[in-house]
Amino acid sequence: MAEIRKVGVVGLGTMGAGIAQVCVEAGVDTLGREISGELAERARGRIDHFLGRKVEKGQLAQEAKDAAMARLSLTTELADFADCDLVIEAAFEDLTVKHELFRELSAVVRLDAILATNTSALSVTEIAAAAVHPERVVGMHFFNPAPLMALVEIVRAQQTEASVVETAYAFAQRLGKEPIRCNDTPGFVVNRILIPLLNDCVRVLDEAGVTPEDLDKAMRFGAGWPMGPCTLVDLVGLDVHVHASEALWQSLREPRMAAPPRIVGMADAGYLGRKTGRGFYEYEA
Ligand SMILES: NC(=O)c1ccc[n+]([C@@H]2O[C@H](COP(=O)([O-])OP(=O)(O)OC[C@H]3O[C@@H](n4cnc5c(N)ncnc54)[C@H](O)[C@@H]3O)[C@@H](O)[C@H]2O)c1
Repeated sequence: MAEIRKVGVVGLGTMGAGIAQVCVEAGVDTLGREISGELAERARGRIDHFLGRKVEKGQLAQEAKDAAMARLSLTTELADFADCDLVIEAAFEDLTVKHELFRELSAVVRLDAILATNTSALSVTEIAAAAVHPERVVGMHFFNPAPLMALVEIVRAQQTEASVVETAYAFAQRLGKEPIRCNDTPGFVVNRILIPLLNDCVRVLDEAGVTPEDLDKAMRFGAGWPMGPCTLVDLVGLDVHVHASEALWQSLREPRMAAPPRIVGMADAGYLGRKTGRGFYEYEA
């Protein structure tokens, strides 16, 4: 199995910065790429902040934090990924953007490098089609927040070579994650189940005339959920949830996949959950 010595991360937004943090903490040299130097430095600042909090809480030694930060380098140029063994793409969720990135990346990296996408809702098979060597493309679907969530779905596109799946799986384990292997079907495993389930929960609010507090209580104490569905949607972000529902509905055309009007209206009004201070609940700024 190919050894992963250096990783590239394309896009240092919410997910990319989290993935880069996990990589440097696991001792892997990591090159992060942003579309501007300013955005790249901002991502470095966020990673430094999160690792600093771990030091304050006694979860990480100061020397380990310094060593992790020293493993992170930044660029705005895709050409700098030429010596990466694995590049994980975590850019904006848009097929045209991803196609352009995979076309460019596959012209830059070595023939034996692996290109992974962190897409949640697009087809890995379709993304891979833009690459020069689509058999070297795989899905590595991390969950948000990447440093805290253990699951990584290792997604086999139609074209993916078996050895590429195994290398990505082993690398996720090396990061301390709990990977699973799955096919490239809409929503993969978790979102395919969770999105329609959360939509049903929102429909039940009106059908059963129950408050968000009581619905959350019902699922925590009646179904053993660690967190109620309204709290979970507020945490994920109503815009992110509506977008994921829309993508699943477009692919599968099952009514349960479509976001209920109540949640679409809230998202349209800007009540996006925790990040805007208001969703099903209100939050302190
Ligand atoms: N946020 C989540 O909960 C979550 C969870 C799992 C997977 N994902 C997936 O991860 C990916 C990134 O999502 P995010 O939430 O981190 O988004 P984000 O908005 O926080 O970050 C998007 C990144 O894309 C970059 N970008 C924007 N336009 C670009 C362009 N034209 N070319 C190249 N890069 C561009 C931005 O600079 C930024 O780094 C998406 O594919 C998303 O579906 C998101």
